[in-house]
Amino acid sequence: ELMTGYTMLRNGGVGNGGQPWVLRWSSRIRLTWLSFTLFIILVFFPLIAHYYLTTIDDAEDAGKRIFGPRTGNELCEVKHVQDLCRIRESVSEELLQLEAKRQELNSEIAKLNLKIEACKKSIENAKQDLLQLKNVISQTEHSYKELMAQNQPKLSLPIRLLPDKDDATFPLPKSNRNCRLHNCFDYSRCPLTSGFPVYVYNSDDYPFGSSLDPLIKQAFEATVRTNVYVTENANIACVYIILVGEMQEPVMPKPTELEQQLHSLPYWRTDGHNHLIINLSRKSETQNFIYNISTGRAMIAQSTFYDVQYRPGFDIVVSPLVHAMSEPNFLEIPPQVPVKRKYLFSFQGEKIESLRSSLQEVRSFEEEIEGNAPADYDDRIITTLKAVQDSKLDFVLVEFTCKNQPKASLPTEWALCGERDDRLELLKLSTFALIITPGDTRLVISAGCAMRLFEALEVGAIPVVLGEQVQLPYNDVIRWNEAALIIPKPRITEVHFLLRSISDNDLLAMRRQGRFLWETYFSTSDNVFSTVLAIIRTRIQIPAAPIREETAVEIPHRSGKAAGTDPNMADNGDLDLGPVETEPPYASPKYLRNFTLTAMDIYRNWNSAPGPFHLFPYTPFDPVLPSEAKFLGSGTGFRPIGGGAGGSGKEFQAALGGNVPREQFTVVMLTYEREEVLMNSLERLNGLPYLNKVVVVWNSPKLPSEDLLWPDIGVPIMVRKT
Ligand SMILES: *[C@@H]1O[C@H](CO)[C@@H](O)[C@H](O)[C@H]1NC(C)=O
Ligand SMILES: *[C@@H]1O[C@H](CO)[C@@H](O)[C@H](O)[C@H]1NC(C)=O
Ligand SMILES: *[C@@H]1O[C@H](CO)[C@@H](O)[C@H](O)[C@H]1NC(C)=O
Repeated sequence: ELMTGYTMLRNGGVGNGGQPWVLRWSSRIRLTWLSFTLFIILVFFPLIAHYYLTTIDDAEDAGKRIFGPRTGNELCEVKHVQDLCRIRESVSEELLQLEAKRQELNSEIAKLNLKIEACKKSIENAKQDLLQLKNVISQTEHSYKELMAQNQPKLSLPIRLLPDKDDATFPLPKSNRNCRLHNCFDYSRCPLTSGFPVYVYNSDDYPFGSSLDPLIKQAFEATVRTNVYVTENANIACVYIILVGEMQEPVMPKPTELEQQLHSLPYWRTDGHNHLIINLSRKSETQNFIYNISTGRAMIAQSTFYDVQYRPGFDIVVSPLVHAMSEPNFLEIPPQVPVKRKYLFSFQGEKIESLRSSLQEVRSFEEEIEGNAPADYDDRIITTLKAVQDSKLDFVLVEFTCKNQPKASLPTEWALCGERDDRLELLKLSTFALIITPGDTRLVISAGCAMRLFEALEVGAIPVVLGEQVQLPYNDVIRWNEAALIIPKPRITEVHFLLRSISDNDLLAMRRQGRFLWETYFSTSDNVFSTVLAIIRTRIQIPAAPIREETAVEIPHRSGKAAGTDPNMADNGDLDLGPVETEPPYASPKYLRNFTLTAMDIYRNWNSAPGPFHLFPYTPFDPVLPSEAKFLGSGTGFRPIGGGAGGSGKEFQAALGGNVPREQFTVVMLTYEREEVLMNSLERLNGLPYLNKVVVVWNSPKLPSEDLLWPDIGVPIMVRKT
């Protein structure tokens, strides 16, 4: 069939071609021969092969012998089959080679895949870097724009004014009694930036110096030597200070003598402006020596004042100097709790003279009195308090006559009883300490009252001052209501009820505040003198001297442990907190509130720790802007988030918004020994945006172990000893 088909094909082809006959004949013979050979090859050999192959199929394990390793040698006896075997062999060899090549390629593909992954990662990183760079660029652009917008020089300090040599052109007030800062004080000597230089006269250079109480003099001189404001140069001084009391009774000079000596002070300059006459009382004996002395425009600081003499905002009510040369023993001060003590309140005192008799005697004070003498409430006070004591509703202790000789006192004043230590013992047992102001209401403050007040504060008895006309020390800056109850005398019948109504929480708050005031302003001679200076300084709005830098003891430590990123931090997706700092760390701006502290912040400054004596670079109590400032900005320097539209995550990342134009922060960690926990907490700070540094305050006497490896978190870690 195959041959016929072939011939027909040939014939058709030849016929179409039109070749000569002889050629056609010879080619036919050749074709026949070729066809025959082909027939033999194509039919006969396959038949033989078929025969043998079927025999192999019949033989057992035939497949194995053909396709397995070369064991079927007997099959290759036939030559053609041997050829086939050879072909098979070479094919399988080739297959093996191909297989090896495939594996090779596979591994190459895996390698390339890894490479792709790495590339992807580095692209990611590069993107991140680009983002940061973009941030930096936009920050810089912002800063540049702001600088251009501001286009004004940074506020610089005014030139220091020096006082004229003769300031005689200063107009005098009609009377020294009318002296206030605005008409009796020369501000031109005290520029805001002068730093408040104070010149202190040496009392020993003047005759009255010999009659000064030696302890007071010694304490005063000691504190003057260490005070930062005191200057030797009288020409640049803002304030001149002279100590005149207290004097020892037997050797007192006559008032006229003292007056003369004051007026001859080298810088008195006709009227004594910018002078401060200090009279510190140590004992409670009080007269009012200065009352009869013409002091010109000098300010007076003492513990006893009559209302006609006291010039509010000008004169200073000082506390008595009890601990003249010795420090108070802070260990002996009773603890703040328990809140309630044995006696609800206590009072001991003795009145030498009644108001009526005293008014008749001290004629000189009656000039301004017209009509009736002021009511004397003392009788009513005595009967009411005795009734409370007798009712036994509460434990109270009131004594209106002293067991032993009472201390000397001014007329109508309640004299102190007993020794200081006895009085303190009683006050330690009292929740409240009653202080009855002198019956003569023109006596706005007396040394005896002040003494009672400070003894009460010292041991934590809450002062109850009867008589609201009293001028408590520094009451233009100290909020006494936070530490003492000031009650008008006519309310005496309500006092018991009032005291009982106060909750323990409030009591404790008052006691704590009293303790703060006592410790800060009244406890030592240094404090008393610093307070006198501070009040003048505050009144004329000069900032305090900056606090001395104290270098902390740094503990050296080894760092180098690579810190991983906190999974929580890395995984907060949209809530990205912002870029890690790329600029070198910068310090916060310092001393931004120099003049704020003596302007808007006076009361907070004086009534809460750390007190008004120092200027701090910044405190934790500095007010902060509300969060709206982040979004709406507060003028130049602020970069509202999202241009004022706000946002989170990405918008935050793109803008340094906030309370200050540029922000970085410091993490302060207090720690005690647990190193493992500390290291973990430190590692967690790795890569924190806006982080400037970490300060670890090491609270243990035992130093951190030497071989401890601290994590490297990209910002400095400082370890400080307490
Ligand atoms: C100082 O003050 C005390 C008590 O306030 C008083 O007794 C004394 O006379 C005063 N001394 C002078 C010199 O004014
Ligand atoms: C002031 O002087 C007058 C007369 O010299 C005297 O009577 C009066 O007691 C003195 N006042 C004081 C407070 O020393
Ligand atoms: C504030 O006081 C500090 C410390 O004396 C000083 O360095 C700084 O220049 C002052 N700043 C201003 C604005 O007066």
